[in-house]
Amino acid sequence: MSIEQIKKVAVIGAGTMGHGIAEVAALAGYEVYLNDISQDILNNALMKISWSLQKLKEGGKLRESPEVIMSRIKTTLNLKDLADVDYVIEAVVENSEVKRKVFSELDNIVKPSAIFATNTSTIPISYLAEATKRQDKFIGLHFMNPPVLMPLVEIIMGNMTSQKTLETTVEFTKSLGKDYVIVRKDVPGFLVNRINSRTFPEAIIMYDEGYRKEDIDAMARFRLGMPMGFLELLDFTGIDVSYNVALEAIKRGEKEPPHFKILKKMVDEGRLGMKSGKGFYTYTGKVYERPKIVPTDGMYSINPLRIIAPAVNEAAWLIRNGISSMEDIEKAMMKGMGWSQGPLTFADKFGIDSIVNFLKQRYNQTGNDYYQPDPLLTEMVEKGKLGVKSGEGFFKWNYEKIDFGPVRYEKLHDYAKITMRRPEKLNALNEAMWNGLTNAFKKAEEDKEVRAVIITGEGRAFCAGDDIEMMHYWKDTASVIEWAQKTSSPLINILTNYTKPIIAEVNGLAFGGGMELLIFFDIVIASEDAIFAIPEGLIGALPPIASSLGVGFVSRKIARYALTGEWMSAKQAEALGLVDIVVPSDQLEITGVEIVEKIKRVAPLSTMSIKRAINSIRNIYLDKLQIASQELIMLSSTEDFKEGMRAFLEKRSPKYKGK
Ligand code: NAI
Repeated sequence: MSIEQIKKVAVIGAGTMGHGIAEVAALAGYEVYLNDISQDILNNALMKISWSLQKLKEGGKLRESPEVIMSRIKTTLNLKDLADVDYVIEAVVENSEVKRKVFSELDNIVKPSAIFATNTSTIPISYLAEATKRQDKFIGLHFMNPPVLMPLVEIIMGNMTSQKTLETTVEFTKSLGKDYVIVRKDVPGFLVNRINSRTFPEAIIMYDEGYRKEDIDAMARFRLGMPMGFLELLDFTGIDVSYNVALEAIKRGEKEPPHFKILKKMVDEGRLGMKSGKGFYTYTGKVYERPKIVPTDGMYSINPLRIIAPAVNEAAWLIRNGISSMEDIEKAMMKGMGWSQGPLTFADKFGIDSIVNFLKQRYNQTGNDYYQPDPLLTEMVEKGKLGVKSGEGFFKWNYEKIDFGPVRYEKLHDYAKITMRRPEKLNALNEAMWNGLTNAFKKAEEDKEVRAVIITGEGRAFCAGDDIEMMHYWKDTASVIEWAQKTSSPLINILTNYTKPIIAEVNGLAFGGGMELLIFFDIVIASEDAIFAIPEGLIGALPPIASSLGVGFVSRKIARYALTGEWMSAKQAEALGLVDIVVPSDQLEITGVEIVEKIKRVAPLSTMSIKRAINSIRNIYLDKLQIASQELIMLSSTEDFKEGMRAFLEKRSPKYKGK
């Protein structure tokens, strides 16, 4: 059977899916025969189709009148009426015996050249095909609910499905106006539900671990960009539905998945989701109202890799076993589940090494095979295919690396990463570091493809501030002025006029100049164990930026830290307005990636305007920096300043004389 020969389509079963599939086929111009076991069900299906067509008409989405489209749909209770159809789509109840009986009967009635397709979600295609004598013309055609609106169909090959049947089915799917992915082997869950069978359980397990449902769903929506939260969606489709799918898998001999007990408990308690008024959320009204999910502080306590890593692991399995192509995996999750990007793109951006490490960590914590990293992923890490950060992962990315002295510049496709690399000196700012930063920021500013810049430090410090060994050589006023002109001013001038968003990932200690520099960056993400301080006064100097830009741009409260040299935690720095997001240390890198992704959605010209507007305020305060600079110049020529520096280097308490 070739696509040109397909004129008549039979749809068996007129329930939720069947009536929708019949409507899709009629919309595409096919003559449709809709079959079910009672006329009432068929009449009901026709009513639903008519209602749906009316809605499409109101939305301006119909080229023909609903009546003309309806006239192409005929209903029948008798399979014998289907002898002459060219393509059969079965959508009866999810029961293998019922389905096999239907197919075996149809096989004796429908002409031998016709193709048989099943819309089953869980039953092996080949097992159903065996009920017929046309196993080569038997295929899986898995629509998503509701068929009229969902753009994607999975095409699944049974063990005996011929290439010709596949080709015709691909053409047929296209003629229905649907996009498709091909699942080359008949594996349970096919593609979309195989990956779903990793993500949804993980959300349930997190809930069981005590995370708040609002935080789990907010993380999915506002950090990963999912259209709905996973728990919200589970409630919507019905907890019993997920329970039954898991139960069927166990009956087929699969190992009990870790979330099964939780589902069972919910079903036993009648918490079936929206339909019973309570699932993860509570529903009061008669009409379904989506739970109100808003960004929460707690969403940053949950690592997004909890969802993404298991999804990527499953995707790797599908690729390694030749079941689906990388492109189809991406398309399936984006068009089938509305993901903002496919799992493999997520993996490349977050880093294949991060995914593997995370999975290993989960495996060690739980002992569950479920989290064993797929060999494809471990092999990629061994080969240095780490994703965007190495220029190649599942896909290829633009990558460039330049070392400006102790400062590493990396172009990561469409953003830049600048890393301070003097870990043994806690990334203290000596001249080479100041110059390296200036050159690296210049490089990122000049590259048109770079949309944002991330700055971070290697090792346990972000940056310990000006290198005392360098300050020690500030002999007199002239040497300090010269230093400022040659070393610090060029970087500060670049940063106060920078046109691209700068994100700081504060991985540890940020002291003195290391903390003050944050004022020039736009979004500061701090690891929850990072510490901040401006202790310059303790060594006879003063924190120049903190005394002017800091008070104006951050808060008056900065005076306390300048006057006492007290340390502050990441959370305190957040309360002060210096830090924007606090995350567990293992999330620092991926949170940076997330923020870059969000920045990329903003119109580039808007980004530039916003930067100019904010920089204009920075510039106002920068003028006041003069006052602090003069103070520093004065201090630098005092005996106490020299004593402070000496004492620090000699690791003893300074003895100040007030001179
Ligand atoms: P449903 O229960 O709404 O509809 C099934 C229909 O099959 C009923 O109208 C029933 O009367 C009819 N039926 C039962 N025995 C029959 C027979 N011997 N001959 C003709 N008709 C018969 O079920 P639903 O949800 O439409 O599911 C149908 C198939 O689609 C299942 O295989 C399911 O796994 C699959 N599917 C369901 C999705 C969903 O979200 N509901 C999504 C994708 C696939």
